[in-house]
Amino acid sequence: MDDVLNILRAAADPTRLRILCLLESGELSVSELVAILGQSQPRVSRHLKVLVDAGLLARLREGSWVFHRIQPSARARAAALTGMVPPDDPVRVLDHARLGEIERQRADEAEAYFARFAGEWDRLRQLDVDEEAIAAQIRVMLPLTHEQRLLDLGTGTGRMLQVLGPDAGEAVGVDASHDMLTVARANLKRWGLANCRVRQGDILALPGAQESFDAVVMHQVLHFLDRPWAAIAEAARTLRPGGQMLVVDLAPHGVEELRERHAHRRLGFADDEVGGWLEDQGLTVRAVHHMPGALGVTIWLARRLGGQPAARSTTTFEGLQQGAPA
Ligand SMILES: C[S@@+](CC[C@H](N)C(=O)[O-])C[C@H]1O[C@@H](n2cnc3c(N)ncnc32)[C@H](O)[C@@H]1O
Repeated sequence: MDDVLNILRAAADPTRLRILCLLESGELSVSELVAILGQSQPRVSRHLKVLVDAGLLARLREGSWVFHRIQPSARARAAALTGMVPPDDPVRVLDHARLGEIERQRADEAEAYFARFAGEWDRLRQLDVDEEAIAAQIRVMLPLTHEQRLLDLGTGTGRMLQVLGPDAGEAVGVDASHDMLTVARANLKRWGLANCRVRQGDILALPGAQESFDAVVMHQVLHFLDRPWAAIAEAARTLRPGGQMLVVDLAPHGVEELRERHAHRRLGFADDEVGGWLEDQGLTVRAVHHMPGALGVTIWLARRLGGQPAARSTTTFEGLQQGAPA
């Protein structure tokens, strides 16, 4: 009973209830909360501390940023509290509108970044990591056959199609950036990969692509996203039973400059962070491999459980249906 009373006391404040409602949709940095709530940073930090002390929130320091999220073990309790606030409550609606605006702004900035660097991306990508060693490791961990369909989410200039496409039956790359895809199309032609094509789309919303791929890869994409777990959830949906997901991203690091100058949202990920998101989607993590370097890179391989792979379906989403022209 003491626990419950502590939680009720912690939430019994208008700002703290607003914070709980905002964090329902994921994690936010202190400065984002300050912008949405319109209060000073010390004040917001004080409220956050009360919620952390009550066990409702978890705090995650990453470089000079501090993120807060609902403590996984307290999700049901937090949902019980926020569930009492009507979805059309004017304060809640306004807070969510502000949050949406912040996310849109960041997405626009990231898109502008990729548009600016599309032509140079193939060179930029090689600066901090040993690309060829990573590619070799990916081929070892995810051997494909000519029977299989591959989906590359956040394909950029098509690097993963270059690495894995020759072994797949068919491969589709999806990216939001028109400029990146222009380079990718030219690359595919140059590499002679007639079985690969790219489509413009949002990897957080892939309508119709349910259970249609044998393998899904996300190479250096998650650290740009506000909600990396949502991308994993959407990717998992596209996998056939028995299908595999390979995620490649930076290990935790402290290079703050990547945030300021290269649109990174997160400074890498711990093994169990991405592992937890994969398992939340019902996937089994089969291997986690670390590649050392100026910036460490981690490769996660997970498998969707299930008996026999489902019969091949032709999906309806115009971007991803089988055999559609590039
Ligand atoms: C760092 S690049 C990586 C590209 C490629 N996977 C590689 O390793 O070279 C990240 C890519 O993710 C794309 N991206 C970011 N958010 C996206 C979204 N919501 N939907 C689709 N693509 C997205 C960007 O446009 C960019 O091309």
